[in-house]
Amino acid sequence: MANLKEEISKRRTFAIISHPDAGKTTLTEKFLLYGGAINLAGSVKGKKTAKHAVSDWMEIEKQRGISVTSSVLQFEYDGYCINILDTPGHQDFSEDTYRTLMAADSAVMVIDASKGVEAQTKKLFKVCLLRDIPIFTFINKMDRDANDPFELMDEIESVLGIATCPMNWPIGSGKEFRGVYDRRAKHVTTFTAFANGQKEVDSENLDVDSPELLGMVGDELFQTLQDDIELLDGASAEFDIEKVSHGKQTPVFFGSALTNFGIEIFLNYFLEMTSHPLPRKSDIGEISPFDKDFSAFVFKIQANMNKAHRDRIAFMRICSGKFEAGMDVYHIQGKKKLKLSQPQQLMAQERKILDEAYAGDIIGVFDPGIFSIGDTISVPGKTFAYEGIPTFAPEHFAKVRQVDTMKRKQFIKGVTQIAQEGAIQIFQEYNTGMEEIIVGVVGVLQFDVLKFRLENEYGVEIRMDTMPHEYIRWVTSPDTDVARINGTSDMKRVKDLKGNPLLLFIHEWAVNTVLDKNKGLELSEFGRW
Ligand code: G4P
Repeated sequence: MANLKEEISKRRTFAIISHPDAGKTTLTEKFLLYGGAINLAGSVKGKKTAKHAVSDWMEIEKQRGISVTSSVLQFEYDGYCINILDTPGHQDFSEDTYRTLMAADSAVMVIDASKGVEAQTKKLFKVCLLRDIPIFTFINKMDRDANDPFELMDEIESVLGIATCPMNWPIGSGKEFRGVYDRRAKHVTTFTAFANGQKEVDSENLDVDSPELLGMVGDELFQTLQDDIELLDGASAEFDIEKVSHGKQTPVFFGSALTNFGIEIFLNYFLEMTSHPLPRKSDIGEISPFDKDFSAFVFKIQANMNKAHRDRIAFMRICSGKFEAGMDVYHIQGKKKLKLSQPQQLMAQERKILDEAYAGDIIGVFDPGIFSIGDTISVPGKTFAYEGIPTFAPEHFAKVRQVDTMKRKQFIKGVTQIAQEGAIQIFQEYNTGMEEIIVGVVGVLQFDVLKFRLENEYGVEIRMDTMPHEYIRWVTSPDTDVARINGTSDMKRVKDLKGNPLLLFIHEWAVNTVLDKNKGLELSEFGRW
């Protein structure tokens, strides 16, 4: 038992959220560098290397040179066991990216200092808010010309609606970047040499009012720093760990992932300020991670990783206890006892077979088609279910039908199964049958996945007509008669697989217009599995 407590206490499971190109991959690489998991930065699936990576996963993945799945990186650092959940962000952005956040205990938000808060960051941030998880901000690329740091703070506060607390503060940016002032330690860490980011750069700590610092940064930056510090101490919010742990305040750090500057400080503060896995909500109350009995929930299903076997992998987040290979478990939703065979942990480019794993860890297990997203796995004799995972609003829609009308059955079977795995969402227009199906996806690549899989696995060729609609909302007010909603000209009434009513819009403003026109109407961006 002592071992269980120790193992779980040292776990930190988090996701990195950012807009493409902000530096997520680079930052991940640098974390690994500190963890000793790699010797030289540059070995994590970069965009370039991914093109050449040999993958036995889906054909489409090979064709595109990208990874369709998200995976987890685990490494040890300074006595901690760190799990970084990969949240795909480029073309492979999908609903899985959102679902992965449901498995994380905290998030690191990477912002490009010259771009500020970008679209994808906003979307991912909203999902983090659903669970009030701690969010740590890393403002990256300070070695390039950056926006004013005060303006960046204002932007985070106004656009994302979260209070900020700068933990360190930059001195200059771009060619003028000289380092950061650590507000707690009250010293300046200087930014000196480039080493192409391959190794940790040399830096030294100087007193904030020392002549050495003045000599190094020059009169102007020195004075700006003194003024900034005064302003920050007077005007910025006090650091409040309570608020941080509930996602109400974000500690902000400045640095440069590429040149390795500010990473170690960030990682150390982050590990100190975040907690080990916390209790998770279930239908019988909260379940402690330290409960000796194993439990987990499925947050992602990856289909057809090996085409020859048509197998699926169910990704589970362990919420309590210890998992041991070959143990008997109980699948709540399937009401069945089973053995989880072949548990795997998916690293960036390899899979390794696991013997044991603990609360906080992610495992991928072979799934013969029995699991659904949100399912709970526990030990025999324990029958509770973890709180479900929401379905997230798709942003791209297409009308889909089969080319050969004789293949109607396979078509319905195919789209229904693929929807059950969570790769796509399917809708029907109100008051019509399944003649024409509306498919909604979070990332457009899923349209290609759907087409590819229907052809390859179900032998059905489809026709897809993209729709101009981008905004979908679940109707959540119980007394609303959907047929009588006073709509806008771009509004469509649809229903999901379970018959839940939704509204589809071309324009975002139309959502508010419809809310204004219909008293008592409630709409949500999130549905339930
Ligand atoms: P992502 O995973 O968030 O999409 O971003 P990624 O780390 O791939 O970084 C995007 C680009 O930004 C890369 O350059 C990377 O080298 C650069 N970058 C990341 N952090 C910093 C930083 O702190 N300073 C500077 N100056 N650049 C940074 P690229 O040329 O697009 O890609 P690559 O050819 O280097 O792979």
